[in-house]
Amino acid sequence: MKVLVVGSGGREHALAWSLARSARVTEVISCPGNAGTAALGPRWDLDPVAASADLEERVLAEGIGRVVIGPEAPLVDGLADRLRARGVAVFGVGASAARLEGSKVFTKEFLQRHGIPTARFEVVREEGHLLAALERFPRGVVVKADGLAAGKGVVVTDDRAIAEEEARAMLDGSRFGEAGRVVLLEERLRGREVSMLAFVSGRQHQWLEPAQDYKARHEGNTGPNTGGMGAFSPTETSANLRERIDREILRPTLDGLAEEGIPYHGLLYVGIMLTDEGPQVLEFNCRFGDPETQPLLMRLKTDLIDIFDAIDGGTLEGLELEWDPRTALCLVLASDGYPGSYRRGLPVEGEVHTPVEAEIQVFHAGTGLQDGSLVTAGGRVFGVTALGRDLVEARALAYAHADRIRFEGCSRREDIGA
Ligand code: AMP
Ligand code: GLY
Repeated sequence: MKVLVVGSGGREHALAWSLARSARVTEVISCPGNAGTAALGPRWDLDPVAASADLEERVLAEGIGRVVIGPEAPLVDGLADRLRARGVAVFGVGASAARLEGSKVFTKEFLQRHGIPTARFEVVREEGHLLAALERFPRGVVVKADGLAAGKGVVVTDDRAIAEEEARAMLDGSRFGEAGRVVLLEERLRGREVSMLAFVSGRQHQWLEPAQDYKARHEGNTGPNTGGMGAFSPTETSANLRERIDREILRPTLDGLAEEGIPYHGLLYVGIMLTDEGPQVLEFNCRFGDPETQPLLMRLKTDLIDIFDAIDGGTLEGLELEWDPRTALCLVLASDGYPGSYRRGLPVEGEVHTPVEAEIQVFHAGTGLQDGSLVTAGGRVFGVTALGRDLVEARALAYAHADRIRFEGCSRREDIGA
């Protein structure tokens, strides 16, 4: 069958790469994709949100057998619902389920309604209420924009003045436009962070293997939060802990969604803080993580199409996921300045196209072609991902390959997997 991957990041290149290896897939098309997905199949130059109607027509006209939606924006916008309504098989949740990512306030209230552990919070809609609300978080506060902010809408700080300044910039619309006009204040939790991803089909689920990402820009988890500077899988997560997260977080979440009449068919990404009081939900994402997907898909041996079919057919819990026991590590090469402003269009040299079967994959994120030459086109440019016997070997392979890729201002964290 022909498959369409919607999105243009490293996650989408990894999805397209994994689908290209499926015996059931004849062609992988990306929309809009990047220079990496272009090496696997055609690209449609359409914005999946702004040109959604054109995309839908083309899916029908070209007989696409499965649409795989990577990023949150088209999910929140209802692309999966519209395609399903026209009889197209889709991997990706509908708009009502995507609110778990599209509105942090919706999620916190949902968690509260269903007694699922999460940090104490308050919602601020007017600047006049901000100072009094901040007073109620004496032990450090986290300021979050309610809406989508490309992973950058969260400020964790113990400094009251910074919290106030950031919250004001959100509320007056200067920081994130409409997405920031409602602000969430949360108590700052302490502990180790884990991300758990599960395939979900209504009340059924299958956990993916554990993965860890590195959200902060600089070594030692310092500097501003980014979409993620690297990731590896597996991580050490005990069976006990997984069982507890299953019982206290995932099952009540799936039950809550079902009770509220919100169908969930796709991937649920649960961001968790392991505190002294137990695991607490930091956030939900309604899609695969980026860059966690890159190492996870390097290790997943089960055909993605079989998984998607099981989700649609309600047979997910009967499916056994098969994983490569080795470790995969993804190192992100970013543009100088990311997550702030950075230059685009800089020429890239080096080994950036890897054979589909190789144990080192260079997943492209912000790359493009200018007059036929490869150039940078985004903040995160590549995710160099390697499979090794253990973390030490995977890390060594990824860093060694990354040294062979060059563009002006290429920057990375030196401590991914260290
Ligand atoms: P979010 O997008 O809501 O997961 O927030 C991004 C990052 O901010 C998380 O991965 C955490 O590192 C941090 N964070 C979010 N909420 C809290 C919290 N309540 N306490 C401490 N850190 C948090
Ligand atoms: N890597 C974090 C995310 O995809 O949201």
